[in-house]
Amino acid sequence: MLAVHNLEVVYEDVMLALRGASLSVPPDQIIAVLGANGAGKTSLLRAMTGLLDIHRGKIVRGHVSLDGQELDTTQAAGVVSSGVSQVMEGRRVFVEFSVEENLRVGAHTRGSSGLKEKYERIYEMFPVLADRRSARAGYLSGGEQQMLAIGRAMMAEPRYLLLDEPSLGLAPKIVEQIRDLIVTIKDAGTGVLLIEQNAAMALSIADHGYVIENGVTVMDAPAATLRSDSDIQEFYLGGTEERSLRDVKHYRRRKRWLS
Ligand SMILES: Nc1ncnc2c1ncn2[C@@H]1O[C@H](COP(=O)(O)OP(=O)(O)OP(=O)(O)O)[C@@H](O)[C@H]1O
Ligand SMILES: [Mg+2]
Repeated sequence: MLAVHNLEVVYEDVMLALRGASLSVPPDQIIAVLGANGAGKTSLLRAMTGLLDIHRGKIVRGHVSLDGQELDTTQAAGVVSSGVSQVMEGRRVFVEFSVEENLRVGAHTRGSSGLKEKYERIYEMFPVLADRRSARAGYLSGGEQQMLAIGRAMMAEPRYLLLDEPSLGLAPKIVEQIRDLIVTIKDAGTGVLLIEQNAAMALSIADHGYVIENGVTVMDAPAATLRSDSDIQEFYLGGTEERSLRDVKHYRRRKRWLS
């Protein structure tokens, strides 16, 4: 189990981005994290994977644990070696590198043994990458780059995969492919933490979900419960996903579960 306990995070010693966030990711489930822009979702992910430092942030309270042991989140590489990989917001592939060179970067914590088998495993999971293995990553479509970013993270053979808005900016058909892929990854034995603005997509495959508002986890419930919750329907599932999330802040104050 990968877990976050009452996490508080500040940037540049002033800006409080998380004010008490807690969640758990079991090894065989997809856990969704929903929240409006600025709620603290990306900060949560950075805190879990040792990337806060780069952004001049730090954990001031609480901790992250892996199988009951506190995880050292001061070293990003150490987190990956412990079995926790991530795909950050935006598709951060190395545009000058080929698809396969990008995948290779993802395997660096595991050394170069069995590299060929690892590529094949990824190509099996992502046939679209197999067809383009020698292509420059920068020439791939947005959806293909997102798949490459996920494939690269999977090269480390993580026990847990953390995804920050993998469907952002992608056409509905591609979002469906990404969704199916996330299910495949879970079924193959990797626990998934899925941060999404696209609540309909996330809740359609998640086992459990959390809602973050203003740096605090305010809801914690099975995905089925969240799907039928009237507030979730109104703010996260109503209308187009993008619109509903942008409106959340505006209505937030009068909602009971956010008050
Ligand atoms: N490097 C940083 N320095 C200072 N403040 C930051 C930094 N990164 C994020 N913040 C602030 O922390 C808060 C949470 O931001 P965060 O990026 O975690 O939100 P988010 O939920 O991921 O939003 P979005 O949906 O827009 O990606 C915001 O108020 C943001 O301005
Ligand atoms: Mg974010």
